[in-house]
Amino acid sequence: MQSQSLAIFLDIATEAALAAGAIILESWGQLQIIKEKERSGDLVTEIDTKSEKTIVEIIQRHFPHHSLLAEEGGAIDKGSQEYLWAIDPLDGTTNYAHGYPIAAVSIGLLIQGIPRVGVVYNPFRNELFRAATGLGATCNRQTIRVSNTPKLEQSLLVSGFAYDRRETQDNNYREFCYLTHLTQGVRRSGSAALDLTDVAAGRIDGYWERGIKPWDIAAGIVIVEEAGGKITAYDQQPLNMASGRILATNGKIHNSLSQALLNTPPWGKWDNQ
Ligand code: IPD
Ligand code: CA
Ligand code: CA
Repeated sequence: MQSQSLAIFLDIATEAALAAGAIILESWGQLQIIKEKERSGDLVTEIDTKSEKTIVEIIQRHFPHHSLLAEEGGAIDKGSQEYLWAIDPLDGTTNYAHGYPIAAVSIGLLIQGIPRVGVVYNPFRNELFRAATGLGATCNRQTIRVSNTPKLEQSLLVSGFAYDRRETQDNNYREFCYLTHLTQGVRRSGSAALDLTDVAAGRIDGYWERGIKPWDIAAGIVIVEEAGGKITAYDQQPLNMASGRILATNGKIHNSLSQALLNTPPWGKWDNQ
């Protein structure tokens, strides 16, 4: 893929993310509609829908033959998956609905199934993260790099919990507490896209999550990789987005975080670690 075309995709994704970010800010504190989706706690507001409509319109205007996968509207299949835009119009909906200002727009482009272009915009901090394969990663046009933290015990991590957490024992509670035990801390921001950009910007050393969807991570994956970070499955095999599990780090703590996730002991057996 020519870097010229990637730069064009990046610019259109940026246009869409900034337009959606403006909608998110405009309506801050004035939400009219907050509904639960299929699962309790999985919310959608009129701003998710409005933001998504704006993004989809901009992308379709520029690339009418590309397919789309958007969180609220689902798939728009143009007969080929060669170009697939993965869109989260408001990542951090629970935060937003409660008036907790951590949320972002996430727009990623997969080319032949591989994330190649990513834009994440946090309107609350006016931070625009951009990356495309081979073109580097930036925040507000300044190059960003992952951290240099060498060891898991010196690290600050972030993770999250999917909306099926009450229905399964594989809900990440044990891993979250175990890693809290082993590290300098584990945060839960409520926005997977911002968790990934925090890894890319070197503010956080590692992120993992299960039950995650392509629209949550497609953009962030490119941004972390272009910032020098590492993305794999929990077991360090190549990431399979359909599995819903992702491990993203500064590279240096990747192996030890992977081992901790694969070997998390049962509750209460952590004293001599
Ligand atoms: C959620 C956030 C959260 C993560 C959840 C996601 P939403 O997305 O990214 O951090 O833990 O798994 O579903 O619902 O706010 O778009
Ligand atoms: Ca999301
Ligand atoms: Ca969302």
